[in-house]
Amino acid sequence: MPIKGRDIVSLSEFTRKDIDLVLSTARKLEPIAAKRRRSTLLKDKLLATLFFEPSTRTRLSFEAAMQRLGGGVIGFADPKTSRAGDWRGETLEDTIKVVNQYADVIVMRNFIEGTAATAAKVAEVPVINAGDGGNEHPTQALLDLYTILREKKRIDGLTVGLVGDLKNERTFHSMAYGLSNFKVNLVFVHPPGTSLPDPISQRIKDRGLSTRTVTKLEEVVGELDVLYTDTTRKEAFKDEKEFDRFHNEYPHINLKTIEHAKEGMIILHPLPRTDGIDFHLDPQVDSTPYALYFKEVFYGVVTRMAILSLVLGAKV
Ligand code: CP
Repeated sequence: MPIKGRDIVSLSEFTRKDIDLVLSTARKLEPIAAKRRRSTLLKDKLLATLFFEPSTRTRLSFEAAMQRLGGGVIGFADPKTSRAGDWRGETLEDTIKVVNQYADVIVMRNFIEGTAATAAKVAEVPVINAGDGGNEHPTQALLDLYTILREKKRIDGLTVGLVGDLKNERTFHSMAYGLSNFKVNLVFVHPPGTSLPDPISQRIKDRGLSTRTVTKLEEVVGELDVLYTDTTRKEAFKDEKEFDRFHNEYPHINLKTIEHAKEGMIILHPLPRTDGIDFHLDPQVDSTPYALYFKEVFYGVVTRMAILSLVLGAKV
């Protein structure tokens, strides 16, 4: 199916061909962002960003991407400033039907799983999922794949560690779906009971990827070409005590845990790096050659330029 006019709700729907198209389009558009220029590619188009949950990178990078391509942006960063978040509680469906009349594409983040699919059902314009609860964050995974390709020159053949709460964290879900299209070796590093949800594990099995699971990062860090990690969200836990217990178990990234990293390994992290208790990713790691997460932020703008161009059918 062409990407033009398509919703991006889950990366499970993306084939290798789709991903390759996004990554090659991003490569063509990268000079515009690198030179901090603006083009006129999407000059007649309008993006709506509807963020029901906080965001720094996803919202601002989509807005930057649209503006770099000459398009306009409307939307809200806090639902309390809209009727969806006031005492009337306007429904999501009505909100989307209204915004659909204003914009050519909608980017939405919501704290409830499945809301991106609901929005896509009622909108006539494409809806892009910017994170729906603990479910998925597909454009984050696309920008992470682009970062790997740019920095390691390939994705096939690499050993990628998925390090953290694979059960609850949406970035791992989308990244695992994305990586299932490549010939990678996957190493899962997580505390017991926090493995990938069954449908995602099944996809990886069906695609015949080599996998291994450990609980301690130190055991495998020397084998990884890519260390992909994310901070655990407190919201995923029933109560504070459960989160506190889990916090002590899940792998933290610091100079000690990456001491025996392979030369050339890159660390990707969607950020933010704090989890409400401490730094999941120690700032001391920033000065090591492994730290790629701020460059990853730049690649995020580039990848989202590609996503918007493709969804809106622009000729790149
Ligand atoms: N990477 C990411 O989703 O960051 P934000 O929550 O700031 O958008």
